[in-house]
Amino acid sequence: MVALLVIHNFMRWFVLLFGILTVVRSIGGLSAKRDFKPSDSQANLFFMIGMDIQLLIGLGLYYAGDWYQKLEHLGQNMQDPYNRFFTMEHGFTMLIAWVLVHIGRASVKKAGTSQSKFRKSLIFFGIALLLILVATPWPFREIVSRPWFRWF
Ligand code: HEM
Repeated sequence: MVALLVIHNFMRWFVLLFGILTVVRSIGGLSAKRDFKPSDSQANLFFMIGMDIQLLIGLGLYYAGDWYQKLEHLGQNMQDPYNRFFTMEHGFTMLIAWVLVHIGRASVKKAGTSQSKFRKSLIFFGIALLLILVATPWPFREIVSRPWFRWF
């Protein structure tokens, strides 16, 4: 349980690194009107792999912790912002981001020209990154605050 939390905490940095890299490369590619390179594809691949790992570990935490049981008394728990965040908001928003990353990678692959690849990349991965930033329990968030880094 603690191991899952440590990995989930650390993997957030991996996801953010490749998410930001993907978005920055899309903006750069669009403004320089350059070709879409294999390294552009690799950046969003690592973003996607990170999200897949986060989803699996997140589901583990959801069931191993008592968040899953909280669904039984949903009405009562929705009134408490801390329980509402970890029972619904965090997982649900991250799930939407995960779907966007997957659709994004498939549609970037399918797009014909480099410019349309960068445009699709910016839209899908950009929105996913924003959702991730909004739904992360940052230490500066008053009620749902969690540490920047965690160790055993
Ligand atoms: C995709 C589906 C996801 C699910 C179902 C999920 C689920 C969870 C759950 C249940 C917790 C609370 C753990 C506990 O205290 O018992 C948690 C914490 C956390 N999640 Fe997620 N998560 C997901 C994705 C993500 C993603 C994509 C990120 C960031 C990139 C992320 C970042 C975090 C962080 C930073 C914490 C706090 C960790 C700590 O306390 O050290 N999660 N997540």
